[in-house]
Amino acid sequence: MNTTITCRNARPEDVEALYELIQGYAEKGIMLPRSREALLRHIDSFIVAEESGRLIGCGSLFRLGTDLVEIRSLGMADGYKGMGLGSRLVDALIEEARRMGVPKVMALTYAVDFFRKNGFEIVDKEIFPEKVWTDCVHCAKQHCCDEIAMLKLLA
Ligand SMILES: CC(C)(COP(=O)(O)OP(=O)(O)OC[C@H]1O[C@@H](n2cnc3c(N)ncnc32)[C@H](O)[C@@H]1OP(=O)(O)O)[C@@H](O)C(=O)NCCC(=O)NCCS
Repeated sequence: MNTTITCRNARPEDVEALYELIQGYAEKGIMLPRSREALLRHIDSFIVAEESGRLIGCGSLFRLGTDLVEIRSLGMADGYKGMGLGSRLVDALIEEARRMGVPKVMALTYAVDFFRKNGFEIVDKEIFPEKVWTDCVHCAKQHCCDEIAMLKLLA
C-alpha cells in the first residue's frame, strides 16, 4: 500500500466516522455502543488511525482510578486488520497512559491473543474496583459477561 496511515488524537469532526465504526462492532456484540453525544463529550480520550483523510481505526482510554485506565472502543475497519495498525493504536494509548502517569492499563476483550502480543496478561476480573463495571449497565451481556480481563503494568 502506498498511502500513509497516521495515528492522531481524535477531533470533534471525527464523531460521525467514529460512531459508524463503533456501531458496526456494537451490532455484532463485540463492543459497547457509544452515542454521538457521548463520543463528542469524550472525544479527547480517543486516538484514531487515518488514511487519506478517512478514519480507519480507533481506540480510547478511560480513567478508572488514580492508577488504572481502560482501553475501550478499539477497532479497525474491515480491510485494515492484521497490518499492525491495532498494535500501533495500543502503543499510542499506552504512551498516553504513561504521559498521564498511570501505571496500569486494562482491557475487557475477546481478542486475547492480540492483547497478549501487546504485552497484556490475563487477570482475574475480581481484582478490579467496582468502578470498572459501571459501564456494563449498557451491555446486553451484563449478567453473563464472557469477556476476558487483561492487564499491562507499565514499567
Ligand atoms: C482486535 C483488532 C483491534 C486488532 O487490530 P489489528 O490491526 O488487526 O491487529 P495487529 O495487526 O496489530 O495484530 C495482529 C495480531 O493480533 C492477533 N489478533 C487480531 N485480532 C484478533 C482477535 N480478534 N482475537 C485474537 N487475536 C487477534 C492476530 O492473530 C495477529 O497476530 P499475528 O501478527 O501473529 O498474525 C482488530 O482485529 C479489530 O478491529 N477487531 C474487531 C474489534 C475488536 O475485537 N476489538 C477489540 C475489543 S477490546
